[in-house]
Amino acid sequence: MSHETKNSMASSTLISDTEPWKDLKGHVEEIKKTHLRDLMNDSTRCKSMIVEFDGILLDYSRQRIYQDTMEKLFRLAEAAHLKQKIDKMFSGEHINITENRSVLHVALRAPRDKVICSDGKNVVPDVWKVLDKISEFAERVRSGSWVGATGKALKDVISVGIGGSFLGPLFVHTALQTDPEGIECARGRQLRFLANVDPVDVARSLTGLNPETTLVVVVSKTFTTAETMLNARTLREWISTALGPQAVAKHMVAVSTNLTLVEKFGIDPNNAFAFWDWVGGRYSVCSAVGVLPLSLQYGFSVVQKFLKGAASIDDHFHLTPFEKNIPVLLGLLSVWNVSFLGYPARVSMESNGKGVSIDGVPLPFEAGEIDFGEPGTNGQHSFYQLIHQGRVIPCDFIGVVKSQQPVYLKGEMVSNHDELMSNFFAQPDALAYGKVVYCTFLFLILH
Ligand SMILES: *[C@@H]1O[C@H](CO)[C@@H](O)[C@H](O)[C@H]1NC(C)=O
Ligand SMILES: *[C@@H]1O[C@H](CO)[C@@H](O)[C@H](O)[C@H]1NC(C)=O
Ligand SMILES: *[C@@H]1O[C@H](CO)[C@@H](O)[C@H](O)[C@H]1NC(C)=O
Ligand SMILES: *[C@@H]1O[C@H](CO)[C@@H](O)[C@H](O)[C@H]1NC(C)=O
Ligand SMILES: *[C@@H]1O[C@H](CO)[C@@H](O)[C@H](O)[C@H]1NC(C)=O
Repeated sequence: MSHETKNSMASSTLISDTEPWKDLKGHVEEIKKTHLRDLMNDSTRCKSMIVEFDGILLDYSRQRIYQDTMEKLFRLAEAAHLKQKIDKMFSGEHINITENRSVLHVALRAPRDKVICSDGKNVVPDVWKVLDKISEFAERVRSGSWVGATGKALKDVISVGIGGSFLGPLFVHTALQTDPEGIECARGRQLRFLANVDPVDVARSLTGLNPETTLVVVVSKTFTTAETMLNARTLREWISTALGPQAVAKHMVAVSTNLTLVEKFGIDPNNAFAFWDWVGGRYSVCSAVGVLPLSLQYGFSVVQKFLKGAASIDDHFHLTPFEKNIPVLLGLLSVWNVSFLGYPARVSMESNGKGVSIDGVPLPFEAGEIDFGEPGTNGQHSFYQLIHQGRVIPCDFIGVVKSQQPVYLKGEMVSNHDELMSNFFAQPDALAYGKVVYCTFLFLILH
């Protein structure tokens, strides 16, 4: 980056021009001389790299860092004004410069009495208005007081949406599907997601479903998203062919901001659930996008626990000093991995880590990541060999202390979950001591 270019964009200083950045650059050579084995042998170091909050234990001792690397990273965070930026987010400033808007997904799970303002207006009451409406609607559908065109209760739901309107809700559904309370609350009901326009996916999502007992949720902010609207029209056709065009109002609802287009489509605008400009797609799972389909499947009170968990980590992120702040620690370690050590594997969702600064200046260093992973021991049977043989890929291992579905087989030494967990503990050690790979533990203690 030449200084001429920079001067033309007066307000922008690249983080890579700061002293803390240069200090970290110099630090890389030092750390490259040290083997992880030796770092792991320093118990004071290792103990300082464990952080716990609300049932989550983070152990980042297997990262390629000294204790003073963290100090340097905290200084970098200071140079980047990270604390001020976090405060700006929570106070509703327009931190999304490209779209000139606030970034307030944290308001989606704030308690009723909290005040979070966007453009001078407290948005929390609006959030709760929609949550209350969802809670009431979900209860009517689940209790059978809202019925389909032929008088039958609607027990199956297809949620049509793409990107953030699909992935986040699917993740949460996948987790709740095996949770004992989730199972109990979802008894007799099905939730499916349709995202891809491939007609095979449409067929798959409809297999075994009866239009008489199916409710379709169409999720599109603008109600113009091409893939979603094509899939929505396909399902509308499926319903009206079977039950007549007037059935659409009974069998389809919307999550959207454009009531005009919702009505034009044939959906009663009273059955549209709003969300707002300040909700980015990637963060929309806590809005009606996720809360509506998940509440239809599990009931609102189960989903509310999920929202409370999110609110808890929001507070932690907002108020905890960086030394004990799990999201900040993970973020700084990512910067260390990608921009200093040059390990590029890991993209967090779609839009982060592009190749330019917030002011549009091209970055003279790598900032994006590619993420991939596999559940449980499946990864061991696919790509782990490559890592054990020396391909450097930083990784996180996420384990849960207590299984949702414990299995103890007669004659086995340990429970199935303990078998899984011994792999969980063995792999990071094998990677740390044997071959050159860096990883963290994220440990969820679920009560
Ligand atoms: C760990 O430290 C101890 C004591 O300083 C030393 O005896 C041992 O060889 C070290 N182990 C490794 C793997 O470096
Ligand atoms: C603003 O939001 C859009 C859509 O979520 C995203 O693609 C973009 O990266 C954001 N811009 C900034 C500066 O965060
Ligand atoms: C951003 O939006 C605000 C109103 O919310 C407006 O006053 C301001 O001019 C806009 N800034 C840009 C750069 O468009
Ligand atoms: C709804 O969509 C139509 C067509 O794209 C557009 O003209 C209108 O401004 C939109 N309304 C809102 C409230 O976004
Ligand atoms: C680097 O380290 C962090 C902390 O462990 C981890 O979350 C991540 O997987 C790694 N990130 C990258 C980009 O390698």
